[in-house]
Amino acid sequence: MSTATLVGGALQERLDSARQRTDSIFRLLKPEALYSRPIPERHRLVFYLGHLEAFDWNLICRKTLNVPSFHPQFDALFEFGIDPPVGQAATDQPSDWPSFEEIQAYNERVRSRIDELLDRAPEQIIQVVLEHRLMHAETLAYLLHNLAYDQKLPGGAPLVYCANRLANPMIEIASGVATLGQKAGEFGWDNEFAEHQVNVPGFRVSKFKITNGQYLDFVQDGASAPHFWTRRGGQWFYRGMFSEVPLPLNAPVYATHAEATAYARWAGKRLLTEEQFHRAAYETPQGSERLYPWGHAKSSDSRGNFDFDHWDPVDVDANPAGDSASGVSQLVGNGWEWTATQFGPFAGFQPMPFYPGYSQNFFDEEHYVMKGGSPVTAACMLRRSFRNWFRPNYPYVYAGFRLVED
Ligand SMILES: [Fe+2]
Repeated sequence: MSTATLVGGALQERLDSARQRTDSIFRLLKPEALYSRPIPERHRLVFYLGHLEAFDWNLICRKTLNVPSFHPQFDALFEFGIDPPVGQAATDQPSDWPSFEEIQAYNERVRSRIDELLDRAPEQIIQVVLEHRLMHAETLAYLLHNLAYDQKLPGGAPLVYCANRLANPMIEIASGVATLGQKAGEFGWDNEFAEHQVNVPGFRVSKFKITNGQYLDFVQDGASAPHFWTRRGGQWFYRGMFSEVPLPLNAPVYATHAEATAYARWAGKRLLTEEQFHRAAYETPQGSERLYPWGHAKSSDSRGNFDFDHWDPVDVDANPAGDSASGVSQLVGNGWEWTATQFGPFAGFQPMPFYPGYSQNFFDEEHYVMKGGSPVTAACMLRRSFRNWFRPNYPYVYAGFRLVED
């Protein structure tokens, strides 16, 4: 067997498993829910059913291998998602979209053509297709999170949380070098290049992400409650994926960038910058940097709540094996972390020729960098250089924050 076939075989396996992941998320839906729009600023769910295959088809077959289209109308209909300013919703109707059966037939045909042609596609293109699908597994999860419980099949038992509020001490991080970005020759999205180093002055950072309990003090002082909370009978609840649970005081609060910034101001501290996140997560007392907070080894279950371990967050002290060298917890997993850094290009940025708008369309000073990863971020995207970004008032993401002081 040639090397190319071996590489192709491994990628085919990863593609099969990513497809199983997104298929399993769609299976959580009751049939009538497919045409719902759980988040006003995003497409109806039915769009994503066609989008994953249309994206793979357009990129691998049409744009890379010049294979003639068998369904140009669907290739175009399902090509692009939307990201309008919050509050500007789309106006399409369920009847504007094709039937489930038509989309399934398209998807099956796309999958079997792609499987036949996979060995001819460059590895980088397949990596893009894989990570694109897994990113959508995450966005599908938060779309479904906002769907009424009666539109989903029942999930498992809710997670168990500790009721006593934890302290959240500040930890000293010495000044030193942070390496941002991905090495040339390794796979990364365009915004991860070029790799470079930054000197970061010393600072203090909270050991844990800010918890629901800490945020509750802010709410009791007059702030509004985050999107993931609801109040009934004088008690606060966290709106989980499949059920509401009494507010878990030691789980990270999921909040918008605007809420995180307001909390930081109220607490007399600041959100950490992207560079400070790197220092807190990857520095060691010896002056070297790690690939993951816990070391150089890839993820394993005990290191954090990621790679679809759970649909909801666990307590902030649940994964001490994933602590950084300085003892900062859950920098990867259990919720992305908002940074104070606006999303923009690193020096040497070049858009990917086959997907020029992936990052560049968002270099608009209206999006902020998130680092780390959520419970439903796939393991491959936990790499140090991976950057995520959202609008500051977009409330649906599994994202929290931690605070710093000089
Ligand atoms: Fe997409």
